[in-house]
Amino acid sequence: MRDKASYPSPCFILEEKRLQKNLALFQRFQKQSNVIWLYTLKCFNEKEGLDLIANTFSGFSIGNSTELSQAQHSKKSHIHSYAPAFYPKEVEMLAMQSDTMSFNSLSQWQNYHQSTAKHASIGLRINPKLALQQPSYCDASSETSRFGVDYQLFLDAYQGDKELFSTLEGLHFHAFCHQNIDALHVLLEHISCHYHAILPRLKWLNLGGGQNFTEKDYDVEGFIVAINAFERKYPTLKIYFEPGSTVVNDTGYFMTTVLDIIPSYPPQVILDTSIETHLLDVAITQRSLTRRGMSHTIGEYKYVLTGVSCITGDILGLYTFDKVLEVGDKIYFENMIGYSLVKQTTFNGIKKAKFFVDRG
Ligand SMILES: Cc1ncc(COP(=O)(O)O)c(C=O)c1O
Repeated sequence: MRDKASYPSPCFILEEKRLQKNLALFQRFQKQSNVIWLYTLKCFNEKEGLDLIANTFSGFSIGNSTELSQAQHSKKSHIHSYAPAFYPKEVEMLAMQSDTMSFNSLSQWQNYHQSTAKHASIGLRINPKLALQQPSYCDASSETSRFGVDYQLFLDAYQGDKELFSTLEGLHFHAFCHQNIDALHVLLEHISCHYHAILPRLKWLNLGGGQNFTEKDYDVEGFIVAINAFERKYPTLKIYFEPGSTVVNDTGYFMTTVLDIIPSYPPQVILDTSIETHLLDVAITQRSLTRRGMSHTIGEYKYVLTGVSCITGDILGLYTFDKVLEVGDKIYFENMIGYSLVKQTTFNGIKKAKFFVDRG
């Protein structure tokens, strides 16, 4: 196994064993239910990792032609396409390459359902407005969300004009952000309650991502029981899930190095990284990062960790350490594979961080 200090800084390291451990859970779900598992590519798309994920997952959930080409396994696997709005010039091509496809709005449905239904099994994304407690940056089922047709609007439109929905074969709900099984129960209840007249005419339901399947406290047994019961209730429907972040949850780290320490109180550490370029997702989610090999809360040495770009606000935050930091010290941030690597930029001429797979 390569010594972690020998990787060039800064870099992202995917640890294969950890990914395999997560994938084992999805293999179990596959054995114990009929759910079809699609991996949402926007979360992490490095080829070496995707190769492993593709061995377990039945396909990919993608949003555009770029992601279609990243889903290198498209020839043998299921492709689901969804976008908040499809580009007119690629919507039909995407339909040709997709098995299932969902539209985000009634206007996109009206514009494209006839041409795309010739190629793919098409559906609509619904906003079930579940009123869950979730961070606003990722709450897709809030009152004001632009993702999916307001369920009441859809139900009224469906009742009013069944002909308009003659090509409808599926419904797509992506309502969760880091949620546990309680939220899933709420969604399943919502579906059973509101769509009983429509479900018998459909072929599939896509229940989205955002479930914390691989978190230690996730009720895995409860999930299997709940989904099996739902499958028994609607035996003709294919059920898809399209998780992203939970698949690569806790599968690797980001390494950065101390370039300089500015004397102030607390001292400000300039790292060889930038929130603006390598850690955009951390800026958006405002999460505090766990450091490998260091206590997260206890430590008598306080530092403000900052980035190397010329933006004043390029600040990671206040962190405590159990030793004095020195130029050249390396810091390893845990759980950095999902949504960080994919969002890198080269702002201020800062090079992208490299990506490695640790197969040890
Ligand atoms: C439509 C859709 N499905 C699935 C996902 C994956 O969600 P997560 O990474 O939270 O599992 C996303 C993420 O934004 C999404 O927009």
